[in-house]
Amino acid sequence: MRSLANFFALSALSLSASAAPVVVAELDSPSKILKVSLSIDNGYLSYQLDRRGQSVLAPSRLGMVFQNAERIERNLRFVSATTRAFSERWEQPWGEQRWINNRYTELDAKFAEASRGKRVFHVKFRIYDDGIGFRYEFPAQANFKEARIVEELTEFDVSARVPSSASSVSQINAASSLAMSQSRNTDSAAPAIAWWIPAGEWNRYEYLYNTTPLKEVGQAHTPITVKTSDGLYLAIHEAALVDYASMWVRRVDGLKLKAQLSNSAGVARVVKKLPFHTPWRTVQIGDRAGDLVENYLILNLNEPNALGDVSWVKPFKYVGIWWGMHLDVQSWGSGPTHGATTANAKAVIDFAAEHGFRGVLVEGWNQGWDGDWFANGWQFDFLKSTRDFDLSAIAAYGLKKGVHLVGHHETACAVSHYERQMDAAFKLYQKHGVDSVKTGYVCDAGQIEIQAKAKMPVLREWHDGQWMSNHHLRVVKAAAAHYIAINAHEPIKDTGLRRTYPNWVAREGARGMEYNAWGNPPNPPEHEANLVFTRMLSGPMDFTPGVLSLKGRGGQAILSTLAKQLALYVVLYSPIQMAADLPEHYQPSMDAFQFIKDVPVDWETTRVLAGEPGDYAVIARKDRASANWFVGAVSDEHPRSVQVSFDFLEPGKRYQLTLYRDADDAHYLHKPGSYLIETHEISSTDKRSVFIAAGGGFAMSLRAL
Ligand code: NOJ
Ligand code: CA
Repeated sequence: MRSLANFFALSALSLSASAAPVVVAELDSPSKILKVSLSIDNGYLSYQLDRRGQSVLAPSRLGMVFQNAERIERNLRFVSATTRAFSERWEQPWGEQRWINNRYTELDAKFAEASRGKRVFHVKFRIYDDGIGFRYEFPAQANFKEARIVEELTEFDVSARVPSSASSVSQINAASSLAMSQSRNTDSAAPAIAWWIPAGEWNRYEYLYNTTPLKEVGQAHTPITVKTSDGLYLAIHEAALVDYASMWVRRVDGLKLKAQLSNSAGVARVVKKLPFHTPWRTVQIGDRAGDLVENYLILNLNEPNALGDVSWVKPFKYVGIWWGMHLDVQSWGSGPTHGATTANAKAVIDFAAEHGFRGVLVEGWNQGWDGDWFANGWQFDFLKSTRDFDLSAIAAYGLKKGVHLVGHHETACAVSHYERQMDAAFKLYQKHGVDSVKTGYVCDAGQIEIQAKAKMPVLREWHDGQWMSNHHLRVVKAAAAHYIAINAHEPIKDTGLRRTYPNWVAREGARGMEYNAWGNPPNPPEHEANLVFTRMLSGPMDFTPGVLSLKGRGGQAILSTLAKQLALYVVLYSPIQMAADLPEHYQPSMDAFQFIKDVPVDWETTRVLAGEPGDYAVIARKDRASANWFVGAVSDEHPRSVQVSFDFLEPGKRYQLTLYRDADDAHYLHKPGSYLIETHEISSTDKRSVFIAAGGGFAMSLRAL
């Protein structure tokens, strides 16, 4: 920890200062890589972030706007601050990384309105060597009982980085104004680039990623990933989004982003009784794009497991009655092409048992899908199956073969209607050995229907507003009471709550495989290389890879090679992974299907060997249950050769490498199904250059000998 004597010397300075900005508190990360400084400038509060003596975020304002009280923005004074250091190592029950170091310094600074209301609040920073989290905390106080929050004034001013060996207040201030002037200069020569999707738009999170100069960002979801003009990678996001609206970011001027809270049915976006705190606002930082992936700050900022023994939460692979509906050769609703029939379910269970899949997802099993199900959410019955689907016979048939049904609750956004049934629905599933449920919220943004009581008016909420942040936790807790894991589609974004609720295993929250069935356009080749460095920073995604037939609805081409489909199991982390294609579509390439059978879904460790957002990614992961390693690589529309050094392997050990790669003539447009399987013995001192076709990828399994 930095010297407290120096810290309090700085604090004292604020008392004597008047007009100029004054640093009132500052603190370094544990290894002194990052430094946060808080300053007051004419009553305005801002924070600044430096890394290795260079500015990363120029002074960025903090504050809040309320419907029922004066805004907290100007007129602030520093009251006091405390610091502490923390270090722990904790174990994920399942995950991409088994052991996680959680090491930070904490700066807890208290501020008050200098006049008028005299309200008080804290800003608490946790400073890691690879990023920061900070939140507002409002203690209970006599003259402020309820906060109706309309807007949060938090800024992230991504300035260019300039040398600053600043150690005194005046030097820091000089450095930051220099940072701002230089940002204008360097920006025109080599602009900071951002990877982002629009927020507050009708399709929730299911957009293609934009790659633009940071200056062209509009209103974006987080994580938003930025590469600065001098090559630093940043991701802005939030952690532990509980009983609060999601934070979007909006570019306000220059390279400055500002928090924007998701909408609600009321004027206030968030309503909180005091005391309360906000979620953590986060900035992750690395020299390589891969550092953002090997960064566990979001999980670390969440509370530890609240569920006790969670050994009942099982990572698994699954197949299902699903892709047929997206291809439009089967239907969710009843009729001649109804997918969820007893006979079809048993056939898929047979396939799952034969090939070692634990789960079988069946959609369209319950009543309410007939007609326009998008519009009929209030018709769904989560307790009654269709007449041609014998739930108890099918579940028992599966369990005899070691196969569990994966449940499905599509709400079509009639969310109060679902909540009224959900306890009974989880109880029913538990009775039948169903220990994971996929939920769904298909409707446009802002069309979540809630109703306090029958016959009361229906109000409309947002998928990522405060109401839904609470809804998802109600579901996760109700499911946990029945030992059921949750995988939410059309969800609220992930903010690391799987640490606290390890039965919240995955979610969608981006364009998944379904867009390759019917998307116009389908996912382009760069999509997955974008996801790795954006969406996937927030947590596991149920992307549903493995469509080896490479055809969508009506034969529409999927813009991927076959080898890339295999790579996705390693590249896009989830503890539940689907083999999404129709079972019969795996027959022509059973040798490639072997990789899908072999690849684990629970990992000891994860390494990003190489990658750039939107271009390519090469990721190695070690199986948690064995000494085996697996590697996945994906490329955009450009072919490339990737040099893999096997130095991540245990020295002195030999491994049987099976490489599933694009054949030399493969191309996502002309010859997507052209692949080769090669085997070699390999050790940690070996290197290998592997070809990736345009729109392609490769997968490796490395079996310890
Ligand atoms: C959208 C989900 O993403 C998809 O997987 C599901 O099949 C449909 N909704 C129907 O619930
Ligand atoms: Ca979806």
